[in-house]
Amino acid sequence: MNQLKHILFAAPALFISCLIAPKAVKAQALKDVYKDAFLIGASISPNITSERSKTLMDTVLKHFNAITIENNLKAGVVNPRPGEYNWGPADQYVEFGEKNKMWIMGHTLVWHQQTPDWFFTNKEGKPNTKEEQLERLRSHIEAVAGRYKGRINAWDVVNEQMGEDGNYRTNSNWIKSVGNGDTLVKYAFKYAAQYAPNTELYYNEYNAWRPEKRDGIVRMVKMLQKEGVRIDGVGLQGHWGLNYPKNQYIEDAINAYSALGIKVMITELDIDVLPLSREGQLTGWTLNPDRQLQLPEFKSYLDPYRNGLPDDVQAQLAKRYAEIFEIFYKHRDQIARVTFWGVQDGQSWKNGSPIPGRMNYPLLWDRQWKQKPAFQAVINAPKKAGNAKVTPPTGSKKF
Ligand code: GLA
Repeated sequence: MNQLKHILFAAPALFISCLIAPKAVKAQALKDVYKDAFLIGASISPNITSERSKTLMDTVLKHFNAITIENNLKAGVVNPRPGEYNWGPADQYVEFGEKNKMWIMGHTLVWHQQTPDWFFTNKEGKPNTKEEQLERLRSHIEAVAGRYKGRINAWDVVNEQMGEDGNYRTNSNWIKSVGNGDTLVKYAFKYAAQYAPNTELYYNEYNAWRPEKRDGIVRMVKMLQKEGVRIDGVGLQGHWGLNYPKNQYIEDAINAYSALGIKVMITELDIDVLPLSREGQLTGWTLNPDRQLQLPEFKSYLDPYRNGLPDDVQAQLAKRYAEIFEIFYKHRDQIARVTFWGVQDGQSWKNGSPIPGRMNYPLLWDRQWKQKPAFQAVINAPKKAGNAKVTPPTGSKKF
C-alpha cells in the first residue's frame, strides 16, 4: 500500500517534470552524421597518443574515424641527422590508430619544408647530383614508408610542389636537386608504391582550388597515369577563410580531380577568421628581427579578437562551415575524407601567424572544449543539403 501511495504521489510530479525538463538532446558525433558520405579526420600530435590530454583523446575517439600525424613523420623530425631516426612518436601514433580502428594517414614523404639540409648534400658536403638525390629519395621512402608497410592506410607522398601559376614551384630544394618536377614526382610515387604496396598514394596541396594551380596538378596526375605510375588521390588543403575561396572554385576543383578517376580529399581544414594583410605581414615579424610590429595599429588590426570572438563573427564562421559542408555532402560520391587541421582553437597553428600569440578561432571546439555554433552547423549540413547530389563527371569512380 505504501508503495502504491508512493507511485500515486510520484506520478503527477514525474509528468510535470517531463513537461518542464529540457528534452535531453543526444549529442551527435561528426563521424556518425557523415558515415555514409566520407571519413571525418583530425590531425593529431603525440600529445594525444601518449594519453596526456584526456579531453582531446575522448573528443577524437568520439567524433573522428581518420587521423593525420601533424609533424612526427616529416623528414626533419623523423630523420634529423644521417642514420638517426626518431620513431617513438610515429610508432605510438600508428598503434593508436590501429587500436581504435581508424583510417591512418602518413604525412608526408616529400616536402620542401621541415626537411634537413643534409638530405641535399653528399658525403663531401657538396650538393647532391641528380642520381645521389634520387637515391636519397629512395632510401628515405624505403625507411619511412617501408617501416609502416601494411599499417598506414594512405600516404601524402608529395606535399606542395606546385606553384600558384601551375608550374612546379621554383624554391623547392627537392626539385632543384633532382633537376625537374616531373622526375621528382614520378620517382616519389614509384618508390612509395614499391615500399608501401596496398597503401593509397596521394598528392596534397594548398590553394589546390586556384584554377591555374589546379590545371597544373591535373596535368601532373595525367603525366603519372600516362607513365603507368600509381596515384590514388589528391588532397585539397582547406586552409581557407570566411570569404575565400569562392565556392565555385571549390566545386570546380573537386570535379576536375575526380574526373581523373582518383579520390578527392579535403585535408588540413581550418577557417581563418582574422584579416589578411600582406603589408601587415611584411611590417610584422617576418621582416623585423626583433619580431616586434613597427606600427602598433597593425597589432590591433591583425589581432582584433584577443578578448573572445564576437557573436557576429561566430555566426559568420558557422555559416561558412555550413556552406562548405553542404558542398562536400553534395559531392559525397567524389570525396573520400574531410580532415580538420587540429581539434580545438587553442591548438591551431593559425594562432601564431603572422604575429606571435595572435588569437584565431578556426576550428569547431573553443579553447574551453565547448562546441561552437560551427560544430552544430556541420552536424546540420547534410539535412540542409537534403538529397541533393552532384553527378560525378565522366571518368570519376565511386568510392
Ligand atoms: C602545411 C603542411 C602541414 C602543416 C601546415 C601548417 O599545410 O602540409 O603539415 O605543417 O602546413 O601547420
